Amino acid sequence: MKKTILSGMQPTGRLHLGNLEGALKNWVALQNDYQMYCCIVDWHSLTSDYNDTSHLQEQIKEVTLDYLSAGLDPEICAIFVQSQVKEHSELHLLFSMITPVTRLARVPSYKEKRKELGLDSYGFLGYPLLQAADILVYKADCVPVGKDQLPHIELTREVARKFNSLYGEVFPEPEALLTKFPLIPGIDGRKMSKSYNNDIAIADTAEETTKKVSKMFTDPQKIHKNDPGRPDLCPVYHLHKIYTEGYREIHTLCSTGKLGCVEDKKNLAKNMNQKLQAVREKRKELENDPETILKVLREGAEKARDKAQKTMKDVRKAMRLMP
Ligand code: TRP
Repeated sequence: MKKTILSGMQPTGRLHLGNLEGALKNWVALQNDYQMYCCIVDWHSLTSDYNDTSHLQEQIKEVTLDYLSAGLDPEICAIFVQSQVKEHSELHLLFSMITPVTRLARVPSYKEKRKELGLDSYGFLGYPLLQAADILVYKADCVPVGKDQLPHIELTREVARKFNSLYGEVFPEPEALLTKFPLIPGIDGRKMSKSYNNDIAIADTAEETTKKVSKMFTDPQKIHKNDPGRPDLCPVYHLHKIYTEGYREIHTLCSTGKLGCVEDKKNLAKNMNQKLQAVREKRKELENDPETILKVLREGAEKARDKAQKTMKDVRKAMRLMP
């Protein structure tokens, strides 16, 4: 029997190279060895972006396109939208009965974002508990995440333990599969992120990519083309590490002043476009095929629902609720 993985991403719209190299490629590598559920968590988006939902459906479509172009295979994993599987919400409600508000208020992401985004809703406090329901409704054994998500996995394990001790063994205690996220800097050298507006999208064309790379920040002390640079501080060099075979040579050339930034960026863009070509071509094909996207999401939700309904039967029985 294959172990089960649940992974989730908010429908932020077009995914970027950080998402691709950090998460999607890892999921694709896991899909043959695990039963994978790849969830697009639209309810989680509403915990912060509830006031304008006009782009939500478009964003879900874009994320699905990126999943498929990156190589997730809908024949072997379930790709689906969270709100299409109502069992997540039933389990979330039941978990809310056994989880102290004080415990949720201690979750680091809640404390940080509450101030940063000025969020104060009931649903936002429940964000990690909804995530626990996403994971446990599939009795997932593993959850591939970055380390920022570890507190949410810890809460998930606590909720599973508490449920099991109150009502009997229903849930496994899922483990985080820590993804070694390669450092993917954006145009400005900060972590690549849509909200920083410094990203290169999977869906960008080769021309757009070249243009964005040409605007990338470099070592501020390297002013003239023959000045020696400090590649270890340079976001362009960090991308070379991912997209350029023999990137070490670039380190030498740059730090000895034999390689100017303009030429260096042209080379990087060329390598990136080459490496991304297959994914982008697949995306182009799928973009013209909206029926396929809808079908993938419909069939994914059916597969997911099947498993989630089984779990909820166990849950109701354990809690002595109506079947
Ligand atoms: N909180 C996750 C993030 O911000 C998204 C998410 C929601 C998730 N439900 C999940 C991730 C379940 C893994 C498993 O990235």
